[in-house]
Amino acid sequence: MQKYSKIQIYYFSGTGNAYNIAKWFAAKSNEKGISTTIINIAGIKEFPIEKPSDNNLIVFISPVHGFNYPPVMISFINQFPKGNNDIVLMNTRAGMLINKYITPGLSGISLYYSLLILKLKGYKIVGMNAFDMPSNWLSLHPSLNEKTVLYIHLKMKAKAEKYADLYSNAKTSFPVFYEIVQDILIMPVSLGYYFIGRFILSKTFYANSNCDNCDLCIIKCPVKAIIKLENRPFWKLKCESCMRCMSQCPKRAIETAHGFIFLIALAFNLLINRTIISIFPSTTPFMESFVYEWILQAILFILFLLLTYRISHYLLKFIWYERFMVYTSFTFYKFWGKRYKALKNI
Ligand SMILES: Cc1cc2nc3c(=O)[nH]c(=O)nc-3n(C[C@H](O)[C@H](O)[C@H](O)COP(=O)(O)O)c2cc1C
Repeated sequence: MQKYSKIQIYYFSGTGNAYNIAKWFAAKSNEKGISTTIINIAGIKEFPIEKPSDNNLIVFISPVHGFNYPPVMISFINQFPKGNNDIVLMNTRAGMLINKYITPGLSGISLYYSLLILKLKGYKIVGMNAFDMPSNWLSLHPSLNEKTVLYIHLKMKAKAEKYADLYSNAKTSFPVFYEIVQDILIMPVSLGYYFIGRFILSKTFYANSNCDNCDLCIIKCPVKAIIKLENRPFWKLKCESCMRCMSQCPKRAIETAHGFIFLIALAFNLLINRTIISIFPSTTPFMESFVYEWILQAILFILFLLLTYRISHYLLKFIWYERFMVYTSFTFYKFWGKRYKALKNI
């Protein structure tokens, strides 16, 4: 028996994995006779969002970034109107392949935080599912080969269709609960990523001299975090590190500045960290704790990074500096593989 008259899928996607799941899920639900719409949250201009009709099923799909949903998705869920619909929460994570086994990524608190917020708004959560799509985090590791990507896509398409079938028959499904212990243990890292890590990552991107100023990265950025400064793309702090710019650049000009970040971290530790911390004397027990020291260090490091990233951006116009940046970026080398694209155009 069909319980829902319509399914509304809200998604965010950097390189197309979450969009693919939305598409596969929607195709199957439509086939089952439930009209399904897919809405890109990065394209929504009008807030507040309209309250969904009562017997619609609402589905949220987004990648996991730093063991949580990306801030753009969190903010969308925070702003979602109150209601009493059934909701399914889904994420796409970093899948890898060992023989025929797709290794699972880590959801962290992505689904639990959203569960809490949406329950407080009056909704009923009827499912929580994770999809281990090919990892797109090319700043961290070389890309997966095409055969692996295709294999994982086929498996995850079948999984998305299975869930579409299940939810259109008014069933519930919470397989992610098997991972709850590791997801809770990893919570401190997800908080660290949200408050500090993501800002550091936003300053690891630059465009090498292959950039011909086509502006595609600026146009395609889902959160409008890239601007043109001194005739070159410049990444602002609100960048979500979603990898779309890197994956879509037709000149393969966008790199992750591994060498730069390493040098900045080293310089910060050797030259600045100790000196500045000693300037702020500890006057309360809290200030003597390692938490205070961490917070202070993180804030100072981000400020230092902002300054040095700006200087680095200026220096990129000199070929000797540009070459230094390029040769110290893993993403520049062939062994790092092709840029990851789940879809040609998103
Ligand atoms: C900045 C960043 C952080 C990530 N963090 C995680 C993570 O914490 N856990 C995980 O399983 N995958 C992580 N990934 C991998 C992506 O979530 C995964 O590849 C996802 O399927 C990408 O979806 P998209 O193509 O829709 O953006 C991360 C990727 C990026 C770029």
